[in-house]
Amino acid sequence: MKDWVTRLLDWFERHQRRLPWRDDCRPYYVWLSEVMLQQTQVDTVIPYFERFIRAFPDVPALAAADQQAVLKLWEGLGYYSRARNLHKTAQLLVAQHDGELPGDIEALRRLPGFGPYTTAAVGSIAFGYPVPVVDGNVLRVFCRFWGIATDIRQPRLRTELQTRLTPFIAAAPPSAFNQAMMEVGALVCRPQAPRCNACPLQADCVAFQTGRTAELPVKSAR
Ligand code: ADE
Ligand code: SF4
Repeated sequence: MKDWVTRLLDWFERHQRRLPWRDDCRPYYVWLSEVMLQQTQVDTVIPYFERFIRAFPDVPALAAADQQAVLKLWEGLGYYSRARNLHKTAQLLVAQHDGELPGDIEALRRLPGFGPYTTAAVGSIAFGYPVPVVDGNVLRVFCRFWGIATDIRQPRLRTELQTRLTPFIAAAPPSAFNQAMMEVGALVCRPQAPRCNACPLQADCVAFQTGRTAELPVKSAR
């Protein structure tokens, strides 16, 4: 029988959305898209991403831009500190890394704005490092899949999932594995009314097998 990782990757191959940063996954595009996607939905991001890369096609072009021009193209996306940090990091990349993102995960981790999420996303999608991405989608999917009833606001849950996912991503193509988990969370294992009958993880899903998809993940009131 196929294991869940194989089914997940087969599903991703057939159902993934065509996205501009998937068609061309050069590191600058992956970085820009992941920063835009941090607080914003995919459908909203697409036109912003396309305008942004037209205006600033690479890291040196972004570094050389006026901050006002960068902020102008961000208008409507919100969380403007993301745009200011992106711009500053582009200038640092020109000064210290020949205008490219470093292809070394420890060097990525040290860049301003590269927390655990961005480091894992850019490291895996652009450079193939087997580091699991744990975002809100992945938390929800794997609390259901493994029947984990820990409050998703607990910081240690992220670390636990990162640890549990590491051996699986180590045996898979890292970019496809991470993007497939996020895509299942966005398209199938939705917060309300998950589409379990269309899900590649159904055969091994604890929440599905025990009728607890509505109870998981657990999220306490603040
Ligand atoms: N959300 C953030 N990054 C994503 C990606 N690479 N694919 C799908 N959803 C995402
Ligand atoms: Fe989510 Fe249902 Fe898939 Fe389980 S079977 S991972 S609950 S969509």
